[in-house]
Amino acid sequence: MSSIQERIDQYWEEVKNWTPSSAEEVEIYRLKFLVSKGILKNLFEEFKNVSVEEKRALGKVLNEFKQATEGRFNEFKDQFSEEQSKAKPSQDLTLPGPGFEFGARHPLSLVRKEIVEIFKKLGFVVAEGPEIEDDWHNFSALNFPEEHPARDMQDTFFIRKQAGNDIALRTHTSSVQVRMMENGKPPFRAIMPGRVYRNEAISARAHCFFHQVEGLYIDEGVSFADLKQTLFHFVQEMYGEGTKVRFRPSYFPFTEPSAEMDISCTICKGAGCNMCKYTGWVEILGCGMVDPNVLENSGIDAAKYTGFAFGMGIERITNLKYEIKDLRLFSENDIRFLKQFESETI
Ligand code: DAH
Repeated sequence: MSSIQERIDQYWEEVKNWTPSSAEEVEIYRLKFLVSKGILKNLFEEFKNVSVEEKRALGKVLNEFKQATEGRFNEFKDQFSEEQSKAKPSQDLTLPGPGFEFGARHPLSLVRKEIVEIFKKLGFVVAEGPEIEDDWHNFSALNFPEEHPARDMQDTFFIRKQAGNDIALRTHTSSVQVRMMENGKPPFRAIMPGRVYRNEAISARAHCFFHQVEGLYIDEGVSFADLKQTLFHFVQEMYGEGTKVRFRPSYFPFTEPSAEMDISCTICKGAGCNMCKYTGWVEILGCGMVDPNVLENSGIDAAKYTGFAFGMGIERITNLKYEIKDLRLFSENDIRFLKQFESETI
């Protein structure tokens, strides 16, 4: 065992360098050096046994060490008792927690989800595609010939203009149809929700971005009757049994024949109101039998397969369900508007 003098030197180093960062570390210090079985007491016990000659010099050193050790402890105590009393109020575990507010689903998300659920039960899967799209998928493959006036039906935000190779923000989700057919084999039964963009002035009735759900059903022997029944079923589920539908002939480059579908006004039930402009009917979607050119463009044998497609605006479907009259509300993030959908559980 090393001599008492050597051990005092060693401990002294330790005491000098002890820099506690918590009250627990102060307590460890106390237990090591100051309690009745601690280092200080031990050294004094051993001191009793040293020779008389040694006692004088060693006694002085030992006393100094004792004072230093106790002095350090008092410093630590002051430091940490101050900190503890400062910290106390925030550590009152009996106080109730601060609580937090739950958010609500956005009405467009609610309705998108509802649409998806209805079609899922009919065996439709969900597919998605890119919002930045090339000319082929947004226009050419969908039977919009170059320079054809039909391209003006949709005011496009172009990202890159390059003859035959434009890149744009997609103007509709019909582009996803093409991607799906190019990348798979029939039969296809899918719905494709997503955001679309058009270069329009923002007002209560128009926005530069909005949301659509595209539908596509391709198989052998699919007919217009399948289209009508599928969409009729959708309307009954979405707006309740007894909601009427009617189809009006229309034109889209990618369907032939094409139609627009109206439903009996959900607000006035057909009696006539502001929403339906006193006609009793409101338009909710475009649809038709997929044009054989589109099938061939996407690598599908049009002699063997037929199919239908439809596209609806989620904002429109939502407006009719919740009577929202200004499109801008959907993207303003006004908490008073959004809070109204808190109790919706879908
Ligand atoms: N893409 C059309 C639009 O944005 C909507 C549409 C109409 C989609 C008819 C279709 C369809 O699939 O068959 O206005």
